Amino acid sequence: MNQHETHGGQVYQLAKQLDRPVDALIDFSASLNPLGPPDSVVRAMHDAVIGCRYYPDPYSGDLRACLAQEHGIAEESILVGNGSAELIRILPKALALRHALIVGPTFSEFENSLRLAGARCTFVHAVSTQRYASSLERFSEIFEEWRFASKKKGRKDVAKNNAVFVCNPNSPTGRRISLRDLRQMMRQVERVGCWMVVDEAFIDWCPSHSLIKDISKYSRLLVLRSFTKFFAIPGIRLGYVVGEPEIIESIRKHLPPWSVNHVAQAAGVAALADSRFRQRSQRFMQQECPHFIVQLRTVPGLRVIPSKANFVMVEVSDGLRTKHIVARLQEQGMSVRDCQSFSGVTRPALRIAVRLARENHRLVKGLTKILQES
Ligand SMILES: Cc1ncc(COP(=O)(O)O)c(C=O)c1O
Repeated sequence: MNQHETHGGQVYQLAKQLDRPVDALIDFSASLNPLGPPDSVVRAMHDAVIGCRYYPDPYSGDLRACLAQEHGIAEESILVGNGSAELIRILPKALALRHALIVGPTFSEFENSLRLAGARCTFVHAVSTQRYASSLERFSEIFEEWRFASKKKGRKDVAKNNAVFVCNPNSPTGRRISLRDLRQMMRQVERVGCWMVVDEAFIDWCPSHSLIKDISKYSRLLVLRSFTKFFAIPGIRLGYVVGEPEIIESIRKHLPPWSVNHVAQAAGVAALADSRFRQRSQRFMQQECPHFIVQLRTVPGLRVIPSKANFVMVEVSDGLRTKHIVARLQEQGMSVRDCQSFSGVTRPALRIAVRLARENHRLVKGLTKILQES
């Protein structure tokens, strides 16, 4: 399997395979806000297209100013990238990482990027029997091992090329680590002297749990954010990383020049200004996600993992093949994410985005039929 095949949202390939137009598919595999993209963002992108005759602002100045205001932080603490995936890709090299602890099962690009940079990966996987809730004890043990290694070598900085990668709320599990637990981890990280990278691609669904507000307190913290999911603009590619200005400047040197195009920058500025869309989306998801979960619980042979994001992981009874379910749903024009490729997912499972009520209903009906016939 190549790297691209391990992600959701493969709509162009699927449309070709089914000989249908892309917009005839219902994509539950990519976890995008079904209310988006907001009209305000689409308008801003249209208006910005004429700017293609100039190089884009290499510093994304207007967007960074808006982000600084949004988060109450300095512009120098923010680096914008061509999707947060681009930033994930350059981080291991920019931080000269040699060893990383990945809190799994999670987004595969952490491991891909770390390995490409020659770093070693150690996984701490949450387990199915605990419904994929993360255990803090295991992290503490590993931090202690790193601290012990530093002491043994008589050096404080042994762990300076180590990092912890956490996604919160996590994909594909939908589980969230509490702010209290994350801060506890962060204190340990500071004692050990390693980095902590927190991917908040899905935090817009529970913004009060973001660690960005702590950025000035912790020198070894980096927080990644994405416009992709909440504003439903995966084709635009826009994300950012927040950290101490000095480290942000050294990460910036690893980006190609003009990596964020002019239309994407305009989309980001418009997205941040659209508070009505943001509130409407949050209200919608607070209602629709629990409603969808109730419906999924009625499907025979599924076990629903509780979710704090805009998608739900469901485990499928042993003996049922996720590949078969995915293929049958695709025949009906619906795409879901098979979790088989996630390292640490030990039981057959699917990740399903929460979409509009009528689409969710159609999926539940389709799934029920497939599972009853299996
Ligand atoms: C957890 C997580 N982080 C980051 C990304 C990358 O998002 P983007 O590059 O579109 O900002 C994804 C995309 O699927 C993701 O699932």
